[in-house]
Amino acid sequence: MNFVIIVAAGTGSRMNSDLPKQFLDLNGVPVIMHTIDHFHQSSTISEIILVISKEMEQFWTDLCLKQHYRTPVHLAFGGDTRFASVKNGLAYIQENFELGTNDYIAVHDGARPIISSSLIARAFQGAYEHQAIVLAQKSIESVRTGNSTSNNAVDRNQVWLVQTPQVFHADLLTRAYCQKEDPLFTDDASVVEKLGNRIAIVEGDAKNIKITYPQDLQIAQFYLNLIK
Ligand code: CTP
Ligand code: MG
Repeated sequence: MNFVIIVAAGTGSRMNSDLPKQFLDLNGVPVIMHTIDHFHQSSTISEIILVISKEMEQFWTDLCLKQHYRTPVHLAFGGDTRFASVKNGLAYIQENFELGTNDYIAVHDGARPIISSSLIARAFQGAYEHQAIVLAQKSIESVRTGNSTSNNAVDRNQVWLVQTPQVFHADLLTRAYCQKEDPLFTDDASVVEKLGNRIAIVEGDAKNIKITYPQDLQIAQFYLNLIK
């Protein structure tokens, strides 16, 4: 079976909005519903686990009623960090499904609504081959590392900008997330890598943006209309 854990329990501090960014409107529908629908439409995915913060549970229920949205997801509750949210999503899977050797788990940011069935399929194909993959794109900008007064050029051909979904063999991901202390990593590949596993890169898509700042909503709207 192929699972996806969609993490949507963040507060979206960089967006500076009262409502977490994943619930903001995008073309008349909350961002998170676009994200869920793309996974729901994908024939690659068997089960969707949506992780939201416990405080947003009633809001989510009301939102689904208001939008006449028959949500195709299992609900789990997030933690203070992305690591804790993914860990809770994984715990939900372990409690409710019997994981086997043919199972794979993707983790996807709820704040990335421009995801397509073909990109999801490509990510899983990579995982069947390599067991642990991230979607990523080569940097199109020149890159420097350091601080504002002391820095050095980096070969941009060696720099990859990482997206989600990131897909892993289920056993690998559950073992990686067994650790108790939160490593404060911002993605799942970093957690799996800590176990000593190699991560393969699968070509991502420039349109697969993560909504982070207010202007990203306009960019996402443009891309959504483009792929319609
Ligand atoms: N996320 C989560 N639980 C957390 C923190 C983040 O489920 N405790 C999710 C977010 O909802 C988002 C994804 O992880 O879909 C990527 O995180 P990010 O873009 O950093 O979102 P936020 O942490 O909400 O935003 P910010 O960093 O601006 O506060
Ligand atoms: Mg964050």
